[in-house]
Amino acid sequence: FSSGPLSGVRVLLTAGPTREPIDPVRFIGNRSSGKMGFALARAFVSAGATVELVAGPVSLATPAGVARFDVETAREMEQKVLDRVTECDIFVGCAAVADYRPEVVADQKIKKNNEQMEIHLVRNNDILATVAALSKAPFTVGFAAETQAPETYAEKKRIAKKIDMIAANLVGASEGGFERDENALTLLWEGGQKRLPLADKGMLAEQLVTLITERYENRYPA
Ligand code: PMT
Repeated sequence: FSSGPLSGVRVLLTAGPTREPIDPVRFIGNRSSGKMGFALARAFVSAGATVELVAGPVSLATPAGVARFDVETAREMEQKVLDRVTECDIFVGCAAVADYRPEVVADQKIKKNNEQMEIHLVRNNDILATVAALSKAPFTVGFAAETQAPETYAEKKRIAKKIDMIAANLVGASEGGFERDENALTLLWEGGQKRLPLADKGMLAEQLVTLITERYENRYPA
């Protein structure tokens, strides 16, 4: 058994983007690099937890001690999370999951025969809300990526998805968010919040794991 404050605690994380295919060569994706989620996986291992990581397509090495499952689409991510979630105590959704996918995936490369084209999109299930609604739900932590008023929108998401905590971050700005090595987060939970200022994602992940551990222990006192 490993030592640390989360010794014996099982953590399931998602990280990275999803890719929603349009045809065999094209997809709808987003700018998530996986850096934030992989840093969190590493920090959970350092805290003594057993860590499983469901990763979208990213070019990052698997952190030592982490069991990694690679997926591509939101539906594959949802399926893998549902397969593994009954075996975890804490679930953290750091992945940038596509909200929509093309309803029909062309089986051959689409030709540019027209001046305009339309792609009809349908909603993907919300993985985080699905996990939080399970009868034996783990302690559930989400992220909120916002281009404005991150705390306001994050608090709405925390309440709507009925999750224990949410980490709000600004994306599309000059600092932090997608792709970069640094980020800033505001953690929100019922009755409290804490701001973690701009820092390297590795350091930020350690601070976040400390806060999650505190809230987790508060909910499940030893
Ligand atoms: O990967 P990096 O380049 O390091 O960037 C890090 C990050 C910006 C991607 C990360 O910090 C972050 O904010 N991740 C969440 C991105 C996101 O999709 O946020 P959202 O506000 O759209 O979604 C809210 C929450 O619901 C997230 O926890 C998301 O995982 C979850 N979700 C969303 C849609 C869906 N269908 N299922 C979900 O579970």
